[in-house]
Amino acid sequence: MRYNAPKGTTDILPDTARKWQYLESKAANMFKNYGYEPIITPIFEHTEVFTRSIGISTDIVQKEMYTFKDKAGRSLTLRPEGTAPVIRAYVNNNMQQLPQPVKLYYMGPMFRYERPQAGRYRQFWQIGVEAIGSDDPALDAESILLMINYFKSLGLKGLTLYINSMGCDKDRPKYMELLREYAEANRKRLCKDCQKRIDLNPLRLFDCKDESCQLVMKDAPKLLNYLEVDCRKHFNMVKRYLEMQKIEYIVKPELVRGLDYYTKTTFEVISPFLGAQNAIGGGGRYDKLVEEFGGSPTPGIGFAIGTERLAIAVEKEGAFDSIEDRMDVFIAVADQSAKPNAIDILYALREAGISADIDYMGRSLKAQLKYANRRGFKYTVFIGPEELEKKRVAVRNMETGEQIEINIDELIKVMRDIVMERF
Ligand code: HAM
Repeated sequence: MRYNAPKGTTDILPDTARKWQYLESKAANMFKNYGYEPIITPIFEHTEVFTRSIGISTDIVQKEMYTFKDKAGRSLTLRPEGTAPVIRAYVNNNMQQLPQPVKLYYMGPMFRYERPQAGRYRQFWQIGVEAIGSDDPALDAESILLMINYFKSLGLKGLTLYINSMGCDKDRPKYMELLREYAEANRKRLCKDCQKRIDLNPLRLFDCKDESCQLVMKDAPKLLNYLEVDCRKHFNMVKRYLEMQKIEYIVKPELVRGLDYYTKTTFEVISPFLGAQNAIGGGGRYDKLVEEFGGSPTPGIGFAIGTERLAIAVEKEGAFDSIEDRMDVFIAVADQSAKPNAIDILYALREAGISADIDYMGRSLKAQLKYANRRGFKYTVFIGPEELEKKRVAVRNMETGEQIEINIDELIKVMRDIVMERF
């Protein structure tokens, strides 16, 4: 019986997995540089963790969650995103007692039952950060700058940064009333889902992809125009910090970002290489979320990047070309009688930090060389009974074909010098 991977999932094969490792290690280095520490939360959570935070009127909660009952009848959900679990963990583990802000990052799979297409999957990976405990607009700017600078470090160009402010408690109620009135007046032009959303949360009308709904929402009142003094000041400071770092942005008043927990700053970065699913990463502030999870009022901000989309964009820029993933040394064994000695040398090379491998398929010497070429080894060391007797081995540079003969006792040292010098 043969099985395919479930719809909307893919196998990440070595060539891609290696690129992801490169993206993740670059991210980890940069996040550390900005003071963020790693956190790993469970892949599934109590369903309520997501319904309460992401919001019952959102597409994610209404249509996209992988929810199931476990054997004890508990409702659990595969995480559709990383922010809610991190905040749940922050509250659960009394991280409010730690020096604030607590800056965390995570990388891992998320699950959304969406219609699969290029750049959109049911299991997809995110690289994300959350900074919890401060409402300083400089931290909003840091979050945005971290994402942009990470993209720059990967050689991405042509990105567009959109920002918006979703306001706070003070501005929301008045605005929501206006928006509801506007939506109500246009009810007939809205799709069935949006009609339901008018009462639940009219902000979600901005998420709808339906053309007629989008036309209606184009002329809808925008929260950005109804901000009270404090929120407006906050947003102005964020913009100022971005300008100081010479970051270009476009203010997009419709950017409400599909999740209910956002307050004040929201942002999203679009890549020209991604087709319809062009959001490479997005984030925002969520000053009410810790309270939702039973903690004391604590603000926070963060973002998440879609790893698949990031990899596609970096690939299109050709920026993976510089990844060095070739093995250093292949040990070609001329005769099986030399294999035990060859294996000894193999482990000594590995111990010395040189990546090395040997044939395990009983190939002829010629076939071993063909294999070493195909796998892209940088050097081949030939070992046979003759070499062992003379205590001399040949080392071939697989790129140039150049070959040198060296004393077997010096092999490790010489190989280390060669490998280190070149890279
Ligand atoms: P989000 O915008 O839902 O935000 O997802 C962030 C990124 O994940 C998107 O920009 C996109 O690149 C990627 N993504 C989302 N859905 C899919 C999918 N089905 N297939 C492939 N990639 C996808 C969040 O998840 C928030 N938790 C971000 C955040 C962190 N806000 C504050 N802190």
